[in-house]
Amino acid sequence: METEQTITVRRLKLSFPTRMDPMLLDGQPELSYALVALSLALPYVEPYLIRTMSSARRLVTNPELLEAIALFNGQEGQHARMHARFNKAVRDKCPALEALEEELAQDYKRFGETKSLKWNVAYAEGFEAFTGALASFLLDEQTLRDAEPTARDLFEWHIVEELEHRCVAFDVYEHLYGGYVYRLAVGFYAQWHLTRFVLRAARAMLEHDRQQGRDHGGKAAARARLRPFFARAARRLVPKVLGTYSPRYTPHRIAMPAGVESILQRLEKASAAPVVEIAPPVEAQPPRQARPDRDLAASAVIRRESARFAAVAAGDLSA
Ligand SMILES: [Fe+2]
Ligand SMILES: [Fe+2]
Repeated sequence: METEQTITVRRLKLSFPTRMDPMLLDGQPELSYALVALSLALPYVEPYLIRTMSSARRLVTNPELLEAIALFNGQEGQHARMHARFNKAVRDKCPALEALEEELAQDYKRFGETKSLKWNVAYAEGFEAFTGALASFLLDEQTLRDAEPTARDLFEWHIVEELEHRCVAFDVYEHLYGGYVYRLAVGFYAQWHLTRFVLRAARAMLEHDRQQGRDHGGKAAARARLRPFFARAARRLVPKVLGTYSPRYTPHRIAMPAGVESILQRLEKASAAPVVEIAPPVEAQPPRQARPDRDLAASAVIRRESARFAAVAAGDLSA
């Protein structure tokens, strides 16, 4: 099944108060702070993706892909702007967080200056493959249903648009370079790099709470809160992420999750008119030839790494 997806750049009209409680999900400090940490990373990673795609654009010869890149950049630009405003409202004065953000900013500067364009495009694809899987998991699970309403609108708008442009970085990588092992290796690094930031930033926020006398009940309480989420993630998120590591992976085969239409209808009330409305049918790349030997080897590595990562994540957020 191939999917063709409209990519629409929407200008969301959300206003954030001067100060927002970072506890986006009531009674869930670890998950709330992980969402805030992800948001903190976006004004760094998304401009980097735009810079990468703008450089790649000079080499792309497919007109439909050129148009898709322009829309991808338009959406990511809006995301970075809105999340920067949200972050300003939700970010507490916390030197540890400032240091982590500075480190992330320097990382993306260094990647752009010292890595090849192929590496940066593969990073972009790894990031997009992961956010696509995460976006569809969060929608399927309705994780944000009871979140603080402004944060819910912000994240759900972002999730829908991430799904809309899920094929663009992949298509650029395949169009310019191809190469499964390279995509897997750099993509895995990209996912580790970003996830590491999210875990460290969420942990810094939890530590900041402790220093300010806001107690969330210690390790055992944290584990009890996180257990249902990790169980759902193991059943529904991990298989989606593992699917992106297959040599046969293509985001063109991923259908939009149910519920996107109702989110868009709700968000229409919070949105101005779309700034761009073009529907480029991003040309599907032919599926890769099956290579069961590589598939099995990759799956074994990924399973091992995923189990290790899940253990580290659980430990980091409940420490
Ligand atoms: Fe985005
Ligand atoms: Fe994206």
